[in-house]
Amino acid sequence: MDRQLQIAIDGPAAAGKSTAAKIVAARLSYIYIDTGAMYRAITYKALEQNIDVEDGKKLGELLHGTTITLEQAENGQMVLLDGLDVTEAIRTDVVTNNVSAVARHSEIRRDMTARQQQLAAKGGVVMDGRDIGTSVLPKADVKIFLLAGVEERAKRRHAENLKKGFSSDLENLKREIAARDKMDMERVESPLQKAEGAIEIDTTFMTVDQVVDAILSAAGVEG
Ligand code: CDP
Ligand code: CDP
Repeated sequence: MDRQLQIAIDGPAAAGKSTAAKIVAARLSYIYIDTGAMYRAITYKALEQNIDVEDGKKLGELLHGTTITLEQAENGQMVLLDGLDVTEAIRTDVVTNNVSAVARHSEIRRDMTARQQQLAAKGGVVMDGRDIGTSVLPKADVKIFLLAGVEERAKRRHAENLKKGFSSDLENLKREIAARDKMDMERVESPLQKAEGAIEIDTTFMTVDQVVDAILSAAGVEG
């Protein structure tokens, strides 16, 4: 295919965005950009340095002096924070429970948005997050809003944790996901919402393959 599209995928936690986005990107030989991993990386660094997650100014300064790189690795995407591999470290509960507080600040969002726009500038990109279609890539060729019921999303995360051999509590997960969605939807700066022109896909009763096919078909391309 000649034209290199920008495909924006947004939606609440555990709706299946990254799973579908990775496959769509691989099918089209596009790059995949996990913007959530970038917010998680700066949250990890802030926690390591005992910076108050309510202090937007300090967090903004911290991000300003930070390099976050996403590298395509054989077994998925590798996240480098100032050159160090934090791929696993950014998925811990403590990071998950603080990331929405960090992502709320305008000082953080402005900087992240500029970095993400630069990464997507050449097209040929599938980017997932919360504000991609609304704010990062408002002119994206394809905008998708993925959602699923909170019960189903918690069950998916639960199954994923058990598969990895991690301890997991379904009720806790449900509470954590609902709390994070609420913060992401209610923040002032680029809240999570369906972008104008976005195609909504409710994945509650869909398999991953069906979601991938729906995105490729919305994009009007064959994977
Ligand atoms: O856990 P999950 O994969 O659903 O979340 P994530 O994509 O890793 O994103 C973690 C958090 O980063 C979200 O809950 C948001 O608070 C924030 N985020 C954001 O504000 N904007 C984005 N474009 C992506 C993530
Ligand atoms: O990126 P996001 O937080 O939206 O979700 P994810 O990290 O892709 O996690 C979704 C989990 O649900 C993965 O374990 C998938 O295998 C599973 N799943 C899915 O993504 N889509 C479906 N239609 C069914 C299950």
